[in-house]
Amino acid sequence: MSVERFFTRIVESLPPTIPFVAPEALERQRGRALQLRIGANESNFGLSPMAREAMVQAVDQTHWYNDPEGFELRQALAVGLDVDMSAVGLGAGIDEILGLMVRLFVEPGEAVVTSLGAYPTFNYHVEGHGGVLHKVAYREDREDLDALLALAQKVQPKLVYVANPDNPMGTWQNADALQNFIEALPSTSVLLLDEAYVDFASKEALLPLAPDGARVVRLRTFSKAHGMAGARIGYAVADKGIIAALDKIRNHFGVNRVAQAGALASLADRAFVLSVVKQVEEGKREYATLARKLGIEMIPSATNFVALDIGSSERARALLQALLARDVFVRMPGVAPLDRCIRLTVGPAAERKVFAQILREVLPQVG
Ligand SMILES: Cc1ncc(COP(=O)(O)O)c(C=O)c1O
Repeated sequence: MSVERFFTRIVESLPPTIPFVAPEALERQRGRALQLRIGANESNFGLSPMAREAMVQAVDQTHWYNDPEGFELRQALAVGLDVDMSAVGLGAGIDEILGLMVRLFVEPGEAVVTSLGAYPTFNYHVEGHGGVLHKVAYREDREDLDALLALAQKVQPKLVYVANPDNPMGTWQNADALQNFIEALPSTSVLLLDEAYVDFASKEALLPLAPDGARVVRLRTFSKAHGMAGARIGYAVADKGIIAALDKIRNHFGVNRVAQAGALASLADRAFVLSVVKQVEEGKREYATLARKLGIEMIPSATNFVALDIGSSERARALLQALLARDVFVRMPGVAPLDRCIRLTVGPAAERKVFAQILREVLPQVG
């Protein structure tokens, strides 16, 4: 007897999917290690030495459950953000919180609005929960706030998803444009504002924290500037009613002890994060120069990665393969016209030098 008949109708309706081909999977498939792992927007600057020390100490306490309230970390985040602790909720990365938000707000069959080609994990959660995705194309490589608003007014979604700065293009919205967008959203909609790359953004792109009662959920992470992607820890800042509702459905022990300790120590090591941000800025300038010399356009980025415009989807895919043949892992956006680019993480100087050399060598192979 087939097991399929036991699944829910929603699960049965979903196509088989491999959301992300991991660099580990590429290594297994090829039987060879990667030389450069710069495809997943991880931070190759590592983590703060203070965070590392705190995590090593926490390892010795892993026979105890973790604090399900994440009290100390939430308190430190609240002080840093100048909000009440009741406005801060933790999760195993933004990815987990996206799923919880979908469960909080979206009934099966209800509308959700996002951008075509935006960060896909949100879409998996929406579809896995039976929500109906409505998508808006990017305009000039940016999420198109006007079109998102027009669609939201039409379909009256429960959730609207915007990443600022954006993945996969690295572009950003100015805070005043976002503020106008929020004010014009239908009164039935909550905005999920994914700020995974906020540490790398300029002041103009930084929306001030909203007052209590606002229908905006800010999502942030320790995966990027803090260099803790593998620890899986992120947080939401929102109206305290939304954070309290999370308690009804979240996995209460889901943010592990080692991650909580590391995040708390990393928050206290502001100098480390600032030095990562500074090095990423240097790296972006260096890649802009490289791109210019090679006759490639680099899309301006407010993140820890850059999108290089290779001219067409075919050329971008060929370059991706040529780089992989040289043991370099990068990714490319999944939909046109964004898929004329490859996307690579900006890492330390030594890594950038190796990448630049390999790019110079393989680019001529790509028609
Ligand atoms: C826009 C965006 N949101 C969320 C994430 C994932 O964040 P986390 O590691 O906290 O789950 C990423 C990772 O690449 C991202 O680009």
